Amino acid sequence: MTLQIRIPYLAARIHPRTYYPHRHVMDKLVIRGGHPLQGTLPVSGSKNTALALMSAALLTPEPVLLRHIPDLKDIRTFCRVMERTGADVTFDPVAHTLRVDAGPLSRTEAPYELVKRMRASFYMLGALLGRSGEARVSLPGGCAWGPRPVDLHIQGMKALGADISLEKGYVVAHAPKGRLTGGDFTLSPSSVGATINFLLGAVTASGRSRLHGAATEPDVVEFCHMLTAMGARIDGLGSRTLLITGVDALGGVSFDNCPDRIELGTFMIAAAIAGLPEQPVTLTHARPEHLGRVFMQAFEQTGCKVRVDGSTVEVVPPRVLTPVSIATNVYPGFPTDLQAQWTILLACADGNAKVLETIYHDRFKHIPELRRMGINAVVVGNEVVVEGGNPMEGTAVMSTDLRASVSLVLAGMVARGETHVLRIYHLDRGYERLEQKLSAAGIDVRREPYDEWADPA
Ligand code: EPZ
Repeated sequence: MTLQIRIPYLAARIHPRTYYPHRHVMDKLVIRGGHPLQGTLPVSGSKNTALALMSAALLTPEPVLLRHIPDLKDIRTFCRVMERTGADVTFDPVAHTLRVDAGPLSRTEAPYELVKRMRASFYMLGALLGRSGEARVSLPGGCAWGPRPVDLHIQGMKALGADISLEKGYVVAHAPKGRLTGGDFTLSPSSVGATINFLLGAVTASGRSRLHGAATEPDVVEFCHMLTAMGARIDGLGSRTLLITGVDALGGVSFDNCPDRIELGTFMIAAAIAGLPEQPVTLTHARPEHLGRVFMQAFEQTGCKVRVDGSTVEVVPPRVLTPVSIATNVYPGFPTDLQAQWTILLACADGNAKVLETIYHDRFKHIPELRRMGINAVVVGNEVVVEGGNPMEGTAVMSTDLRASVSLVLAGMVARGETHVLRIYHLDRGYERLEQKLSAAGIDVRREPYDEWADPA
């Protein structure tokens, strides 16, 4: 018996695929560069705002309807996380509506198997504490660019009166008298997620809470608008100091998600690098003010003209892009989620410039893949120096995270030949129907399955 087990094991050690012939099929995008971006690109609903709105829906036993919810992997993952509590969650990917009936909520747990797939699942800590006075939520993993702590989330819950312990990779929290009391807390550094979690716990606490250093990203402001529409009492909207007066219960609501500002910024950069000089590319269903003035100023300093008419943004690229150095920062600073995409714009510009990342420790996992395409970019500490103008060659490149993967797609649009962007499950987390949108605007891109473990032909 032992011998039989040993032979396969030895065979597998010689060549795993000899013995384990199963395939590891994934999707890739194949982009043939050099086709200009022309016409119109529609912007979908905001992923990051939608995730916050969904968590708020758990705070009430009454039905909640959310509109303009994008059909993304992260949204579907969070639906499953929410359903685990017993809530009834119905997502219509065609109508882009999401109905939540958290009346039947009976379980206060978010398991590792789901939380590990998406960090925002950690919002379940505030949502379950705010709704039920208890929560058992898995600590989220890290991500491609390093550890992403949740210490501020946990400290915020303690400030609201929760008892918290860490047990086998889970945060186990409960409000001593079944309801959080409220309290004051200062966020440093400013954290979008920790702001959202604190608000989820504070709005139904028995007392008042004050949050200093609150994040002011549009995702947070829209989230506060929804909470207010549900009956929450929040003063200081949009400022760094929020005063929350807890209420006994929140009601149901129908609420519209806002457009995705990071998708808008991504499409503006796509127009800058792949649009025809002096020809407009039109982006629709947008909220340009959500990008913040720093991004808009930097974008126009590249020589791009931007014309805004309500929710329509028209981008007219120049003949030659001017390189503009940027430093990421919290809102209204330059969004860190557009840092990788900006690197591609710099690679297409006439001269050298830098991208300084101030929010995360090492969000440059895309740089080695871009260098394989011929981009001259060098990481020095938390900064990447980009020398524009080098010709880019299409090749096979590996996605490492959501925004890195879309920067590889942008590079493929302007590279010579074919670029195969592998492991686009990262991309599917945050960009809805990207290849359809780009194809409809003139880009030669197709989705294909491939076997990650196939030996090269
Ligand atoms: C949100 O992540 C976004 N995700 C991120 O977008 C975005 O990059 C980030 O905000 C910054 O804008 C969602 O909204 C779902 P943070 P979040 O807490 O909330 C440190 C994308 O591509 N920190 O604002 O996790 C942290 O390490 C994603 O759509 C602590 O030290 O980010 C970072 O340096 C990627 N302790 C800084 O704060 C904590 O407890 C900002 O992170 C929490 C955060």
